[in-house]
Amino acid sequence: MMANSASASAPGKIILCGEHAVVYGRPAIAVPVSQVSADVTITATGCDLAIEARDQNRTVHFANLPADDPLAAIIRLTLEKLDVADAPLATIVIQSTIPIAGGLGSGAAVSTALARTLARYYEHELDTATISSLVYEVEKLHHGTPSGIDNAVIAFDQPVYFVRGRPIETFAVPRPFRLVIADTGLPGPTKIAVSEVRAAWQADPAKFESLFDQCGEITGQARSIIEGGYPDQLGPLLTQNHRLLSELGVSCAELEALVEAALGAGASGAKLSGGGRGGNMIALVTDERTASVEQALLNAGAKRVIITTVKATNDKRET
Ligand code: MEV
Repeated sequence: MMANSASASAPGKIILCGEHAVVYGRPAIAVPVSQVSADVTITATGCDLAIEARDQNRTVHFANLPADDPLAAIIRLTLEKLDVADAPLATIVIQSTIPIAGGLGSGAAVSTALARTLARYYEHELDTATISSLVYEVEKLHHGTPSGIDNAVIAFDQPVYFVRGRPIETFAVPRPFRLVIADTGLPGPTKIAVSEVRAAWQADPAKFESLFDQCGEITGQARSIIEGGYPDQLGPLLTQNHRLLSELGVSCAELEALVEAALGAGASGAKLSGGGRGGNMIALVTDERTASVEQALLNAGAKRVIITTVKATNDKRET
């Protein structure tokens, strides 16, 4: 069975705390960012599979893509999972509002939306854990040693508490909270940041293990605070996590300037988010402080600011 057309979307994401340490087995928390999304549609055409990436203004033919191209890889892996031998005679249109290379999960979101769209086209719903693991395979092609947190939060579209190699845990968020996300405008090369941390860890394992432990403890406390319904108390933990990330060597002058600007304007906590060395930072804000923090970040050089609310949810499970 096959539909004439199908579509699906996936949100962006941000790491709340625990990035980098999560690569070394410590827990991290990530939350979806629904203000930005990747949207994919497939329509039967009777012609060889074409992929139109609207935001990049390019159309490519599946047959001409190298095997390790992320789009080719997710299509191939999904078709294999669906037991479909040949690529569909169709056009896939991808539209994404998620900034590329900023740590908001643009690649993982496109892969997630694409895998879901193909499954729907073949009228075969794939469960979320399966989609997440297909996307993880693609992430590995391009990010070296990803922990798997990005594909998990995007596929589940819920806050996740993630420990590498363990089932993915979603947890209850009794009260919503607001984050301001600011982009340094510098590409955040996650792969490079992760490999530099690895080299530094190899050079001084005792120091780095201790920093990772402290990041892990912060994540555990952050989860308890969120689950307890006091997310307004998260601020100091986020700022502490930022200081540890600076010690890991993944901050930069632009991120420091944005963190200081947010704190100076009344954010209750602020930190770089994701791989660092550029990309995005986040600030925890109240309703009253949102506008002043946003303005302070723009004044301090942020190229783009996104305001997102982490929604309340009761969904607590292991998958
Ligand atoms: C990237 O969003 C988060 C890192 O911890 C890398 C990873 O977990 O794969 C820096």
